[in-house]
Amino acid sequence: MSTDTPRYPELLDQLSGETKTWLITGVAGFIGSNLLEHLLKLNQHVVGLDNFATGHQRNLDEVQSLVAPEQWAGFTFIEGDIRNLEDCARACEGVDYVLHQAALGSVPRSLNDPITTNAANITGFLNMLVAARDAEVKSFTYAASSSTYGDHPALPKVEPNIGKPLSPYAVTKYVNELYAEVFARSYGFKAIGLRYFNVFGKRQDPNGAYAAVIPKWTAAMVRGEDVFINGDGETSRDFCFIENAVQANLLAATAEDSVKNEVYNVAVGDRTTLNDLFAALKSALVENGVVYDKEPVYRDFRPGDVRHSQADIGKAAGKLGYAPEFRIREGIAKAMPWYLQG
Ligand SMILES: NC(=O)c1ccc[n+]([C@@H]2O[C@H](COP(=O)([O-])OP(=O)(O)OC[C@H]3O[C@@H](n4cnc5c(N)ncnc54)[C@H](O)[C@@H]3O)[C@@H](O)[C@H]2O)c1
Repeated sequence: MSTDTPRYPELLDQLSGETKTWLITGVAGFIGSNLLEHLLKLNQHVVGLDNFATGHQRNLDEVQSLVAPEQWAGFTFIEGDIRNLEDCARACEGVDYVLHQAALGSVPRSLNDPITTNAANITGFLNMLVAARDAEVKSFTYAASSSTYGDHPALPKVEPNIGKPLSPYAVTKYVNELYAEVFARSYGFKAIGLRYFNVFGKRQDPNGAYAAVIPKWTAAMVRGEDVFINGDGETSRDFCFIENAVQANLLAATAEDSVKNEVYNVAVGDRTTLNDLFAALKSALVENGVVYDKEPVYRDFRPGDVRHSQADIGKAAGKLGYAPEFRIREGIAKAMPWYLQG
């Protein structure tokens, strides 16, 4: 099927009249907790699995405060580990759609500790595939990554043209795609990989050595601390607001079988340099009454980082009906109150 027209409004209508059971792994994390909030608000039943490796109970508490008590009653949380097949099997029982988000993110984390990243991202992924296959779920949507483009120089990035991985993290995310493809071929399994490009928004952790750039810089700016730019600031990314990523997950999970067993870029199709990002965050803070008057501090390029990244989102638009609703500045404006309250 090729839709070419946005399918999301129609899907939201359809879901709110029909309760399904979803499993979100990594539910206490950034993307997982946003998926949880959306699905509960659509009166869906959700099972969540997380071991709190990088996720937080406070994210689940925040979602609880944002949904009605009867919607929260539709949520079952399992504290467990995807590296344990039994935990995966338990979580998949009676589930219609799996949204597999659990993994250890961050390129530098994977360079510092490739073994732990491999265990969660490859062994954990394979466990989830086996458990979801055995539970005969309707579909398995998983978090892939733009890091799979590696050293391929072409811009914008189109799904078939990938280069060599630049980090252990990138290897794990590519192996996920290979396993999903083999499960499709060998067992008739229905998987869709979403190659996220720098997702940002509320509940993305601003703390710790492996924090992502937007929450990390914003937190530093609010505290009046230095902001460090790795390299000359002309490194660029296709920053994708969380609401766009949520849309892609819901569209993918419920898509027709003919568009499954594929990977899709999930981004906006824009390219923003780190210097421009710095300026955008500074001006969004001013609009919220916070003045940051320091210049960024430039330091060395970070190993493993891709220099430029920008997605071609034509495939997701054409086959899934994906139509991102928020560009970077709109996303920053929406997320800023959350950063300021933290
Ligand atoms: N945020 C981005 O820009 C981005 C970009 C590309 C891909 N991704 C992928 O999207 C997914 C979600 O990322 P996020 O930004 O929400 O990160 P996050 O760290 O906020 O969430 C990941 C969640 O997975 C959980 N988890 C980790 N290991 C686990 C294990 N062994 N068992 C059970 N739970 C475990 C963590 O506790 C956490 O709650 C990840 O797979 C990540 O690789 C994210």
